[in-house]
Formats: sequence, structure tokens, C-alpha cells
Amino acid sequence: MAFDVHASICHIMKFKEIRKKYLDFFKGKKHAIIPSASLIPENDPSTLFIGSGMQPLVLYLLGEKHPAGKRLVNSQKCFRAEDIAEVGDSRHTTFFEMLGNWSLGDYFKKEQLRWFFEFLTDRLGLDVNRLYVTVFKGNSDIGITRDEESVAIWRELFKEKGINAKDIDFSENQGLVGSRIFYYDEKKNWWSRSGVPLNMPVGEPGGPDSEIFYDLGADLKRHENSPFCGQPCHINCDCGRFIEIGNSVFMEYVKTESGFEKLKQRNVDFGGGLERLAMVSQGKSNIFETDLFSSAISGLENLSGGKKYQDNGKPFEVIIDHLRGAVFIMADNKGICPSNTEQGYVVRRLIRRAIRYGRELGIKKDLWTKEIAEIIIKDYRDDYPDLENNKNFVESQLQEEEKKFQRALGNGLKEFNKIKIAGNISGRQAFDLYQTRGFPFEITEELAKENGLKVDKIGFEEELKKHQELSRSTIAGKFKSGLADASEETTKFHTATHILLAALREVLGGSVFQKGSNITAERLRLDFSYPEKLSSEQIEKVQAVANKIIQDDLPVSFEEMGLEKAKKQGAMGVFETRYGEKVRVYTIGKGKNIFSEEICAGPHVKRTGELGKIKIIKEESSSARTRRIKAIFAS
Ligand code: ALA
Repeated sequence: MAFDVHASICHIMKFKEIRKKYLDFFKGKKHAIIPSASLIPENDPSTLFIGSGMQPLVLYLLGEKHPAGKRLVNSQKCFRAEDIAEVGDSRHTTFFEMLGNWSLGDYFKKEQLRWFFEFLTDRLGLDVNRLYVTVFKGNSDIGITRDEESVAIWRELFKEKGINAKDIDFSENQGLVGSRIFYYDEKKNWWSRSGVPLNMPVGEPGGPDSEIFYDLGADLKRHENSPFCGQPCHINCDCGRFIEIGNSVFMEYVKTESGFEKLKQRNVDFGGGLERLAMVSQGKSNIFETDLFSSAISGLENLSGGKKYQDNGKPFEVIIDHLRGAVFIMADNKGICPSNTEQGYVVRRLIRRAIRYGRELGIKKDLWTKEIAEIIIKDYRDDYPDLENNKNFVESQLQEEEKKFQRALGNGLKEFNKIKIAGNISGRQAFDLYQTRGFPFEITEELAKENGLKVDKIGFEEELKKHQELSRSTIAGKFKSGLADASEETTKFHTATHILLAALREVLGGSVFQKGSNITAERLRLDFSYPEKLSSEQIEKVQAVANKIIQDDLPVSFEEMGLEKAKKQGAMGVFETRYGEKVRVYTIGKGKNIFSEEICAGPHVKRTGELGKIKIIKEESSSARTRRIKAIFAS
């Protein structure tokens, strides 16, 4: 669905030009252009992939000096696995480039809002009548007031373009009521890596933000009823009329034990999706209609024997999105390739899902994913030379995975067709397909849907868990003297590791994350993110905090829940779940007195009082910005 906003602008900017224009624009405002960090986080085990431009820069937002200065700009490669299911909704992709600029304790709201507005209107030539903005409404519970400063700036900016921009509190079902600036609460206008203020761990930076939206509504006079949802809608409505194209975060707060404090410096963290900016700038209402994807789409049209994108939107979009994501992840110099764990598992899932949609398009050719990968690499190699450098690796991995999956699919489909005769698919059957045929659960789910059958997802998850527990005990058996035995001593050290991590975070702050651990019956070893050597006072303090928890004899309990819920309640953990699998959250303490919550498979002792006194016997560097401690129980 294209609309003709560009009738008067003869030049349509290509996505590369937009990226370059943005970088140059901020370079002109004295920003240093920094390269994109790898998609695989370096010192941040809290996520599998970099999901926003600020993530590789957290240390600098917290006050470390950045070698390139206080004003930075880049285009950061991002990947959001959680958006896999959204691909096909016109505005989401798993991989995307986030244009970002940062002020590390330098400029603030006035400059940021003006500059980005100027970029959108004067440099990209967007129609100002289509722009709407949101600001933070304030929350007295956390002592952070309404962002009237941003509103005043926005009013002035719109006024300069001849628009009288009224501001109003957002209210459900009310529509736009002729306003252009909307106040929303922290669910919409607060940003931190962990979301709303309540979910932020101590030490995490965050702040109110101001988002800018573009109105795709074809008829600008029909302000109240959206042509997309047919109702009076608001700019955060999910109907698709308004698309967020940029977010300026005023990152000046840090979460503390007692609430929020100002950081040492007032930061700006801005991010805007390149794909979305290309979409609105090119007058399109679907990301996949931009020039970014045109050669890949033609390639796929050829491969599928003349099937057209217009008639097969979702399969085209899923295939191109997923292969682009897989190519970027594998080309990232970290040697990630399809596997059954962590990032490799995501890559496997992307490739297999793309192939599955390829079947839907009737692609006859074997080993075809490589051909789309070639087009993607060609489109991007000038800006991301790693793609070209790792081309052979990427293409051979794709071929291997395609072969494996073809075999699995052939066998699995036969099996599926046998099973389906008997009706709905049980959890056990879905698990067998997954385990013995390499058939991803979602493919079983999709096939079942096509056949009008149900799959027992909960049953599948239970089977998966049983299997994982079984393989864990097998591993434990194999390494009796090593890391994974379940003796009383190692169980104690396991609980002690949770206590130490929480104690480290209490003493050193919320930028401490677990990076690894290794437990024997004699000692525990814990690696965690922290930029410098711990002083002996800090070590003393950590020990004292930990031993107080042991002395208090707090209960240790666990609850099973979905990963989303676990994250929401702030549980620590480095694991990504699959298929909404349930996780265990181990809690030390209870009620108001919770000391630690971690996603973990266990086992643990029942009460902290069962542990001996913890003594840290060694503190050393493990790798860049990672420290390692070893601890024993003092006799
Ligand atoms: N970090 C902000 C975001 O990802 C800009 O939206």
C-alpha cells in the first residue's frame, strides 16, 4: 500500500544515502562516527544479541570516558529474536540497523530534539504534518516529574514550521483530539535495558524518553478514525497507522536501593530504525517495499518460479528477514553457526524457518538459501566488509544446514503425515519429531494448523524439560569429579554462588552480571563483569554481605514460570528460552526480604544457614572487563 507523499520530491533517497546523511549530519554537529559493535555482546551476558545501539555503550553512559569523546554517532547492527513472530506485520524485522547518537554528559534535550527534528524535516524532507511526538507524563512514586521541558521545545519546533502543536495527556478511546504532543506514562515513555522503572535492577541507567511518530494515514484530514483500525486511534495504537521512527532517551537516572538518583552526567541516548526511516522517507507503508529489499525480492521471485511478492507477502518477508539475520550473525567474526544452543540455535531456527517458507513458495531448487545470501552480502558488503570476508563461511554453513534440514524435513514430514491421521498431535509426538527428526516445534505447530489440528504445546514443553533434566544428570554422571556432580558440597557451593553474585551487585552495582561459573566439591569460581580490580575493602564488604545472608538463615525456594514473567520480576539469568519454555526462578529470602532471584535449574540447599562461612581466596582478571573470584567455605 504505497501513497503518494513524494509527488513533489523527485529524488527518492536510498537507504544507504539515509544512513550516510544521518552520520554526516551528526558529524557536522561534532559527533565522532564510531563503528557498529558486533551483534554478539562482549561484556554483557544478559542477552544473546545486541538489541539496541546503547547496549555496547552502557559503561560510558554510566560515566567511563569514551576514547572518541562525548558526542558519538553510529549505525548499530541489532537483532531482536523476540520479534521473530512479528515479521510480516509491515514494520518489524529481526535484524535491523539502529541509527544512534549519544551525548555522554554533553548536550541535552534542547539540542537533541531540535537536531533530530531538523534531520527529519529538512534533510529527509518528511512532511511535518505527519509527525507526532510523545513525552513522559511523570510519576510521583519515583519522584520524576512531567517532562514539560521537552513539551516546550517541541511546541517551539512545530511553531517554527507553522504548526500550533497542542499537548494533552493520552487517554484511552479519545483519539487525537487535534493534538500533536502526547503525555504517556512509563510503560510507553521510559527507556532502560530492562524496561519500566520497577523492573530495573539496582545500578541500571535509564530515563524518560520522547518518541517521534510518522502518520501513514492516507487522509490527513480524517484525524479521528484511523484508516487502519477504523476507530479513533492514538499514536501508540497497534493498528499500523502511526509508526515510531525515533526515540530520544534522556538517560540521567540510575536505579538505587531506595529509588532513583541522578547519574553523574546527563546523557542522551537516541535510536531510530534505519529500515523504518527508509520506509517513511520513500513513501512506503511496509519496510519490505523499500529499496533495501528489492534485489533480494527479485532473487526470490526468480527462485520461486515467478511467484510474485505482492501475492505472497508473508513468505517473502519471512525468508528475506530470516536469511538476512542469519547472514549477519554468522558473518560477525565470532564463528557462530547453526547449532542447538544459544546464538547458534537462533541461527538454526532462522534458516529452518526460511526454508520452510521456501517450501510454501514452491521453490524446487536444492540449496537455494545461499543464492539469497549472496544478494544480501552484495547489498551490504561496502558498509559491512565482514560480510564479504566471511562469505565462504556463511555460505557453506547455509548449505550444510539446508542439507541437514532437508533430510530432517523429508523424514519428519513422512512421520507427521502418519501421526496426523490419528488426529491431534500430542506433546510426546511433537517432542519425538523435534528430538529424533530435528523438526522445530513451530514447524509442527504450523503444519498442524494447516491441517486443522491442535498440538499439545504444554505437553511438548514438559517432555523437553524432562529430557533436559535427564541430559543434565547424564552430564553430571560423566564429570563426577568435575563441575556438574550433585553432591551435597557442590550444591552448597551452587547456592553460595547465587549469594555471592547478589552480594557483588549490592557492593559494586548493577553493572555486575554473571559471566560464568565453575563449581567443584572443593571450591566455587565465579566470573562477572566489572572493569577493575576489586580493592581488599570491597572484597571484605562482599564477604560480609554474603555471610550475613548465611547467618540470617534465609529460605531458598523456587517457582516455575514463563521466561517473560521471570524477567519482569527482575530475576537474573543468562538463558534464553525456547518456545516459551518454563524456567525455574530460585529465590533466596522471602516476602519483602528477597536477596536474590535467579533463573537457574538448581539444585540448591533449602536454607542459607546450611552453608559454611564464605571466604574469597582469590580475585583476578579473567578477560577484558571480567573479574574472577574463587571462594571456599572457611572451616
Ligand atoms: N535505546 C533506545 C531504544 O532502543 C534509544 O529505543
